[in-house]
Amino acid sequence: MRITVFGATGNVGTRVVTEALRRGHDITAATRAPGRPASLPPGTRHRTGDAGDIADVIELSTGQDLIISATRPPAGSETDLVKTTRTLLAGVSRTGVRLILVGGAASLTVPGTSTPAIDSPYVSPSYRDIAAACADQLAACRADPSADWTYLSPAALLEPGERTGRYRLGTDELLVDATGVSRVSMEDLAVALLDEAERPRHRRTRFTVADQHAAA
Ligand SMILES: NC(=O)c1ccc[n+]([C@@H]2O[C@H](COP(=O)([O-])OP(=O)(O)OC[C@H]3O[C@@H](n4cnc5c(N)ncnc54)[C@H](OP(=O)(O)O)[C@@H]3O)[C@@H](O)[C@H]2O)c1
Repeated sequence: MRITVFGATGNVGTRVVTEALRRGHDITAATRAPGRPASLPPGTRHRTGDAGDIADVIELSTGQDLIISATRPPAGSETDLVKTTRTLLAGVSRTGVRLILVGGAASLTVPGTSTPAIDSPYVSPSYRDIAAACADQLAACRADPSADWTYLSPAALLEPGERTGRYRLGTDELLVDATGVSRVSMEDLAVALLDEAERPRHRRTRFTVADQHAAA
């Protein structure tokens, strides 16, 4: 597949690029700063582009099979995430290209309750602003009338780790293990994302992923 990745140099984006290259996809990494970042793996195309600029989104999605967004605004600008998401949705609506967004766990509900994770101890108060922005990001997707979007909520803890290639999927409820921990490695999140890209099962909906050994 021909895939453009926004946020390709971020924590999640680098794992997504690595996983996509491993599977032989044709990857274009879009970064805001001009010039190819030294960290981009060989075999990755590079283009300059801002996910919050509709002309860039249209240009970088034209002729592609998929856009992946793993962007995160700097601290203090969290609400930019919603604006960026609306721009991505509008851009791919114009080009007819599928969009998969890496979002947040905040809007998942705590198992067995209707309490969103953001209002629970699963989300640290220090992450509240980005968590709230991610919840608004999902709402923007759900309100969009036309884009072919998929929203991937990680488990509550999303950390660098091991690529096991195994994971559990859910829909709107936080996935936790027997000890109440909700976790997925960034590497396995990338595996789940690329599996969804290759075999779509969650069009115009949200799904979540957690470590497979996290079964409660
Ligand atoms: N458990 C959870 O729910 C959880 C935990 C961690 C992360 N996340 C989510 O995962 C996503 C990615 O997080 P991360 O930790 O990988 O972020 P990160 O390491 O801070 O990387 C963010 C990337 O986004 C890029 N970016 C920001 N705004 C952009 C724009 N308008 N256009 C193009 N690129 C842009 C940045 O590039 P520049 O160099 O241009 O700024 C950077 O490459 C976020 O949505 C975050 O909320 C969720």
